[in-house]
Parts: sequence; structure tokens; C-alpha cells
Amino acid sequence: MLEGERGEAARKALEIVVKVGEALGAEKLVKISSAHVSGVSYVNIGEAGLELIRDLALSGARFTVLTTVNPTAIDTEKWREMGIPQEIALKQLDILKHLELMGAQMTLTCTPYLLHPPAEGEQIAWGESNAVLYANSVLGARTNREGGPLVLFEAISGRAPYVGLRREEERKPTLLVEVDEDVRERLRNGVYSYPMIGYTLGLKVGRGVPFLNFKIPFEEVKGFLAAVGASSSIGLVLIKGVSPEAEKYTEVLNELEEIHIDTEDVETACSKISADYEEADAVFLGCPHLSPRELEEILSVIAEKGELKRRTILSTSRWALERVHRSKEELSDKVIALADTCIVVAPIEYMGLKKVITDSAKAAYYLSSKGVKTTVLPRKKILEEIL
Ligand code: F3S
Repeated sequence: MLEGERGEAARKALEIVVKVGEALGAEKLVKISSAHVSGVSYVNIGEAGLELIRDLALSGARFTVLTTVNPTAIDTEKWREMGIPQEIALKQLDILKHLELMGAQMTLTCTPYLLHPPAEGEQIAWGESNAVLYANSVLGARTNREGGPLVLFEAISGRAPYVGLRREEERKPTLLVEVDEDVRERLRNGVYSYPMIGYTLGLKVGRGVPFLNFKIPFEEVKGFLAAVGASSSIGLVLIKGVSPEAEKYTEVLNELEEIHIDTEDVETACSKISADYEEADAVFLGCPHLSPRELEEILSVIAEKGELKRRTILSTSRWALERVHRSKEELSDKVIALADTCIVVAPIEYMGLKKVITDSAKAAYYLSSKGVKTTVLPRKKILEEIL
């Protein structure tokens, strides 16, 4: 490939992957079975990103492994309803057109693990921190938190540097995390939520491979890990009873440094992303994108309620949307289910959102950094009391 046998684009892509590998001290490259490209929202990557993707596609570069794509700045069907200017929508569609030309599947979701779950031990190259954390921690696949452009070159060359979480030795736990009883009690009582605990853990631990000695209900793992990814550079959490690799380390746990998450930690961490906003403009659910089951559950609550108190925005994949069938008449016109995007990667300034209630600590973190006022609450409370 480096000699140009598979074309100039593949030669250049591999050359970049080799250079990155050398800089990281990798002993070799490994073959990857899939790639997930993040950083595709025109709002985030702008003209420079668009040009890079367009130039690659037009130079003949093609993905050689299953390649999926993260959410974009627009719902490709409802962008007018979102209030997004045509100029931005067209730029976004141009990015997507060229990714598709290179052979990407237009999944446009941050939950590729629901559509194409990799097997345990499989080497993959995924961007998007929540997807990386899920693939490593829940499925036992192997990937680092790859940067946007690097994934493109890995997807073209089908190779990635053998470093970090790709290596068995780097997947060992570095710290034992215990959750104090009063935090558990608040979780049981619905005062705290799992994303709040994930956000706190990320802030407190920061890096490495924490071993969480606390079982998380399976349906809560996605939101928990997304929050860890938002507040830290962690790419793998070994969760008792969830992670396939957790079991083999139970004997060495007493050798690890131990930290505790207490209520003060949670209060301090969450005070940065959550405050009381009585007059919120909207409720946002779906960060990470809602699975078909979550979407069905939320839509049944909404259908039962009839009229909603607040504008409600759901974000999900088109794949999930196609699996849930609800007629428009059943749902209040205050609810909009967006596919292909979320309000974090969309140009939110056109959507009239200044104060948002969400169940996602990750969304709250990024929205706060854009100047939106946020309140994080457990989903159950939002569905029962806030909608
Ligand atoms: Fe997905 Fe957007 Fe959240 S891309 S993880 S819904 S910030």
C-alpha cells in the first residue's frame, strides 16, 4: 500500500497512520474491522473540514472497512423545521455526499454499537467518546478515542497504530472506584441519576482505567458512560457485572488505589452543569441517541399525557425511528423527534433554545459551554413531572 499499489489516496492515508503510530511509539499497526467517523458536523468542522473530506473523496480515497458516521448539524429531512438556514444545510449535505462517495454508511448516529456491535476483542477505530466507551467497556472491543481526521485515514487504510487501549496491558484497571452508600440511596430515590454519577467519576478520576465496583442497570450504562466521556479522557471503565473483562481482575482489586464517590463529589460536579431553571424553553432527551426501546417508552408516556407542558426535543437515529411506529395524531405537536443530529452538534442558535432541561450530563456539559442554561434531572422525573 505504501508503494502505491492501491492508489495514491490509500498510500497517503497509510503514510499518515504510520507517522501517527511512530509518534505514539507503536510497535506495529493492526487491521481494524470497522471505523466510526466523528467530527462531521459542519458547525464544528467548518470549511476546513468540508474541504478535507471533499478532497479525499475526489482524489479517489475509499473506505476499506465498515465505516459509520456520527450525527451531523441537521436532521436531513427536517432541517427547515429546525430553523436551520439553507446555506448551512447545503454545506452539511455536501460533507455527507462525499463521505457516502467514499463508502460510508449514512448512519448519522452516535450509537453505532446498536447498529453494528463489534465482537469482544475486535480491533476497531472509532471516534465519538460515548461510542468508544461503550465499545470498550460493554462489548470488550478495542479502540482508542480516535480523533476525527485520523479515523478517516484509518478507515481508508484499514489499519491503526497498536497503542493504548488496543493493547491487553493497557486495559488493566488503574484505580478502584467505590460508590458510597448515601450516593446509592439517592440513586434509588431518584434524586441522582447514573449520568450524574458518570460525570462525577470522570471529573474525579480524569484518566486511566477505573474499575467501578458498583453494578449499573444495563439500560443506564449508555448514559453513564457518555457522561464519563464528557468529563474526562477515559476510554474504558471496567464495570462490575457489565464489562466482559471485569471478572478477570476481581482478584487484584485489593492491590489498587481506592477512591470513593460521595454526595459532596456529586453535588460539586453537577453544580457546574445543572441549576434550577423553572422557565426552561425545552426538554431534551436523547444524548446519546435513543435506542428503539427508549424511544418507544418515551413516546408512549407522551401519547398518554396528551398535551405537554413544554416543547420536547428527542434525538435518535433514523434506524431507531424506523423501528418505532407512532402516528402523528397520537403525539402532541410540542414534541419533535430528530434523527441524524442532536442539539449539541446542531447550530442551536437557530432553534431558540436558551434554557434546557435534560437527563444527559454530557448534553448539559456541552450546552453549558455554548452558553445554554441547563438542568440535569433523572429521566423518570422528567417524564413524570416535567413534560
Ligand atoms: Fe450523541 Fe449528540 Fe450526545 S452526538 S452523544 S447526542 S452530544
